[in-house]
Amino acid sequence: MAKILVTGGTGYIGSHTVVELQKVGFEVVIIDNLSNSNIDVLNGIEKITGIRPAFENIDCVDYVSMDRMFEKYNDIDAIIHFAASKAVGESVEKPLLYYRNNIVSLINLLQLMPIHKVKNFVFSSSCTVYGQPDVLPVTESAPIKPALSPYGNTKQISEEIIHDTIHANPCYQSTILRYFNPIGAHPSGEIGELPNGVPNNLLPFVTQTAIGLRKQLQVYGNDYNTPDGSCIRDYIHVVDLAKAHVIAVQRMLNHHTKNRVEIFNLGTGRGLSVLEIIETFEKVNGVKVPYRIVNRREGDIEKVWADPSFANNELGWTAKETVEETLRSAWAWEQNLANKAKEE
Ligand code: UD1
Repeated sequence: MAKILVTGGTGYIGSHTVVELQKVGFEVVIIDNLSNSNIDVLNGIEKITGIRPAFENIDCVDYVSMDRMFEKYNDIDAIIHFAASKAVGESVEKPLLYYRNNIVSLINLLQLMPIHKVKNFVFSSSCTVYGQPDVLPVTESAPIKPALSPYGNTKQISEEIIHDTIHANPCYQSTILRYFNPIGAHPSGEIGELPNGVPNNLLPFVTQTAIGLRKQLQVYGNDYNTPDGSCIRDYIHVVDLAKAHVIAVQRMLNHHTKNRVEIFNLGTGRGLSVLEIIETFEKVNGVKVPYRIVNRREGDIEKVWADPSFANNELGWTAKETVEETLRSAWAWEQNLANKAKEE
């Protein structure tokens, strides 16, 4: 069975993807510098699949170590590149950190691919490349809007670098996956989102508030041009998202791609407001989430949700989980973390 290199494989989306890859029989090698994840994630993966993936603590920015790693695992068939920094606010404060981490890592991998004869590359991109789209739901052909943060810019630049590199190397192909808002956790409760410090993203803040780790959730604005005034996003279960990666890899390995660079939106096609998320979370989990409305957050997009029909038709993939189930899984994960903390 094919061997897949997963960068950032102990991270949130990475770990869920490793599980799905192993479930269908792929051999996985994880590299991660553990800058925003924990080595214990490997235990969680092993508990779910019965297989402990190979792991190397390597920073993708370190070309020499990366080169050695490719020598050691010398028959990698595809790379899924998750490893990146992703906090929008931090990227505004430390732009060079973001350009270095996200761009140098990518260049290293693309440079090492031909040297080590790896032909297939999957890239984690984001719906952030669309900015505030003129037409909703947003399709892959919507124009790329000027980035609102260095983080967003790294995703746009990365996509361009991939296009140019694949164009120049006829043997290579890439699949760019533009994620909407991944939330939730594995149904086993063994892996989930583990934000460092105060969460930036909505769902970890919701679950941490519900469990009492945070006093109050701040809802960033209720004066947007949306039915209830709060922002709208397309929230997708992380396991659904993970499964799309497996299909993308299989499609490339089986030579079913139609272009050497393919781009897919990964979303549900349904937009939900911040207030709808809070209300549904409270209802399905029977728990209160204290919140208050505060000013808008700089750089937030008013509303965005995917037209996932290209991924549905071409990949034969759809996001299957309901938002209710997804929000239940997020809460179960937070409760598991609390129980584990008590035991320690
Ligand atoms: C953001 C980035 C996206 C990036 C992702 C990765 C923008 C516009 N988008 O997604 O490019 O890939 O992070 O981390 O910056 N919210 C609250 N209170 C909170 C947290 C969030 O009300 O404490 C609201 C936000 O205003 C937003 C929604 O919840 O409307 C989702 O926010 P978040 O989870 O941070 O994701 P995005 O901003 O969509």
